[in-house]
Amino acid sequence: MSDTEPVLDALKTVLDPDSEKHVLQLDMIRDLRTEDGKIYLTVQIHDPMSTFASDVERACRAALSPLVDSPSDVRISLDNDMIDLGAELTVDGATQSDGFSGARNIVAVASGKGGVGKSTVSVNLAVALAQQGFAVGLVDTDIYGPSIPTMFGVEDAKPKVAENRRILPIERYGVKLLSMGFLVDPGKAVVWRGPMVTSAVKQFLSDTEWGDLDFLILDLPPGTGDIQLTIVQTVPLNGAVVVSTPQRVALADARKGVAMFDQVHVPVLGLVENMAWFEPPDVPGRRYYLFGEGGARALAEELNVPLLGELPIDEEVRRNCDDGTPAAAHQGTPAAAAFDALARRVTEEVWRRNATRPATQKVEILRR
Ligand SMILES: Nc1ncnc2c1ncn2[C@@H]1O[C@H](COP(=O)(O)OP(=O)(O)OP(=O)(O)O)[C@@H](O)[C@H]1O
Ligand SMILES: [Mg+2]
Repeated sequence: MSDTEPVLDALKTVLDPDSEKHVLQLDMIRDLRTEDGKIYLTVQIHDPMSTFASDVERACRAALSPLVDSPSDVRISLDNDMIDLGAELTVDGATQSDGFSGARNIVAVASGKGGVGKSTVSVNLAVALAQQGFAVGLVDTDIYGPSIPTMFGVEDAKPKVAENRRILPIERYGVKLLSMGFLVDPGKAVVWRGPMVTSAVKQFLSDTEWGDLDFLILDLPPGTGDIQLTIVQTVPLNGAVVVSTPQRVALADARKGVAMFDQVHVPVLGLVENMAWFEPPDVPGRRYYLFGEGGARALAEELNVPLLGELPIDEEVRRNCDDGTPAAAHQGTPAAAAFDALARRVTEEVWRRNATRPATQKVEILRR
């Protein structure tokens, strides 16, 4: 337990009266640290015109004062900024974004092994976050095998281009979507080399009219090769979710995935174990651990990262992927509840990371 833990607990009592969410849920805390009995933090103001913006500093001081000897030991600075995707991804200042378009948090969903459920998790995480009231974007970066268009039932969608030449994402279930599959014929992309893929992804992110997003989810292609490495180095990620199934081969590849993010200093928000067990609908409570039991939990403990969720094999989930209606949108089902819980764990980890770690720096920028 770190010494920032009591501070985080105290900050959870600082509520925005309008939304009734606390400052961590509102993702307003940055650079939190404690040193020599003093608390240092930055409050990030997302909406400078709100009444909460004028009151939040005082409210944080009041909540934190019981933890320090003197009120002057609470050191708060105020800031307002967002990741402007246009500006962030500009190589030499030549590309200016027209109007504001950015994301507060960019989260990659990755795996080492293919077919473990990255796209399923990305899609349902995005839908669950949108249902929780967040502004969410989702990008399918898998140029060779895009699956998000199918999972949302929009295979034939063609995004429009605005007058300012920016791409307008397709919107489904409250999620703004873009897939390589909308713009590039996957059959033709097969011959693309790594640098072409990454520059296309980068252009994709910076030239799209996302509006003002709370979360942008990136569904990565399987593996830990050059393409994945370049994407995670090019985009300022807040964190990564690593998906695995319980088999030893999948876990070994998940370990490689975590190592890749460590290498480029992107925090791993946690592991998700997908296809963890099968519970026959006609024998409720009976769980079959078809691919092994407890492997992801053990790996999470070993690597000291959270286990964000365990998702069973669910025929509905598979069917919903195929028929284009994400399981998370089917309110009241066990799958929707599981994805809702997963989304809450992910946001919790993003806030914790944002509050306690400096912003992720891009390691390298590739030229278009
Ligand atoms: N929990 C689950 N229950 C049942 N089916 C699932 C579950 N998770 C994923 N699937 C199914 O498994 C298949 C693979 O899932 P998905 O496409 O999400 O994997 P992926 O990791 O994105 O694959 P790729 O590596 O090719 O990108 C899909 O048909 C999906 O419907
Ligand atoms: Mg996929």
